[in-house]
Amino acid sequence: MIALLPGDGIGPEVIAEAVRVLDAAGCALDFQQAAVGGAAYRESGHPLPETTLDLARRADAILFGAVGDPACDTLERRLRPEQAILGLRRELALFANLRPAKLFAELADASALRPEVAAEIDLVIVRELNGDVYFGEKGMRTTPAGRRQGYDVMAYDEDEVARIARVGFETAMARGRTLCSVDKANVLETSQLWRDVVTEIASEYPQVALSHMYVDNAAMQLVRNPGQFDVIVTGNLFGDILSDQASMCAGSIGMLPSASLDSAGKGLYEPIHGSAPDIAGQGKANPLATILSAAMMLRYSLGRAEEADRIEAAVAAALAGGARTPDLGGTLSTSQMGDAVIEALA
Ligand code: NAD
Ligand code: IPM
Ligand code: MN
Repeated sequence: MIALLPGDGIGPEVIAEAVRVLDAAGCALDFQQAAVGGAAYRESGHPLPETTLDLARRADAILFGAVGDPACDTLERRLRPEQAILGLRRELALFANLRPAKLFAELADASALRPEVAAEIDLVIVRELNGDVYFGEKGMRTTPAGRRQGYDVMAYDEDEVARIARVGFETAMARGRTLCSVDKANVLETSQLWRDVVTEIASEYPQVALSHMYVDNAAMQLVRNPGQFDVIVTGNLFGDILSDQASMCAGSIGMLPSASLDSAGKGLYEPIHGSAPDIAGQGKANPLATILSAAMMLRYSLGRAEEADRIEAAVAAALAGGARTPDLGGTLSTSQMGDAVIEALA
């Protein structure tokens, strides 16, 4: 059973296309849908109701749209839509977030980079998803001088770093055997531990070429020469930021899928983008990131690599045929892009 969690904004619009594509590919999956995010808050007063969490726990895999609703931004934090995705990642111990970024050849013109620079991008960001400033102690307090102060503690322990480092090395072993660990060890103790532990784990993977890079330089290098990267392993916050940046190198934020995995291979699959309130309800969202996330679900959680390959090939064929939503410089609607992929499947 697949838990289907469409969420807010463009979430339901892109999830609908992914489901149509999975059906058209003959996958015959058993979907059970539940509310998350602002939609769930409106229904039940909580962004991640117990029934939704329970469905996600029982599912073989989770297909997630996006959460986020500007109308909820003034709620107390524990009730905001974003807590749904953070809660799922944490409760299900989905600590390893794989965010592949590659340029479909036909999209060179959509990249923010010069075509010859963009052509080289083919990398995976392995982002830690259960720690960092996201989950450290946080709050608002008053300083002795009487000023309001917000704080978020950044922390990683060595086991947390070691397990994501191993995912980074394993991912590199299955690709170009080159791993770049991104941190801010020149300033942060968290990052010094990160660098030390990644270096220790490297002895288990002598075939992988490991390098370290500061995150500010990594942001610059991603734009200057993205082709230098094979696998990047980094913490929760840096990985969040760098993956949005990588998406524009690869054409659009609407193109990048992701898998969030636990240590047993259970996964949640979602586009890296959010609920895009600025275009929600207008049929402008690019559904390809979600369709590609569904393909990752078939490959990683369901052991159905052939169907995943077919869907990915259909996406490439649709793009080659000129299918473009507005983010890619075209005029197709969300469902017309879904149609183009389905036609390419046939
Ligand atoms: P966003 O990713 O939702 O949108 C950023 C920009 O990219 C917008 O201009 C949007 O229109 C565009 N965009 C995003 N996805 C697109 C797609 N598929 N096709 C075409 N254009 C697309 O980020 P934001 O605006 O910073 O955040 C909006 C809300 O989404 C916030 O509430 C945020 O917290 C939430 N969010 C949720 C997730 C998630 O559910 N995993 C991820 C990121 C942001
Ligand atoms: C993402 C999002 C989330 C994150 C937010 C919505 C909590 O930006 O999935 O990339 O920061 O991880
Ligand atoms: Mn993000």
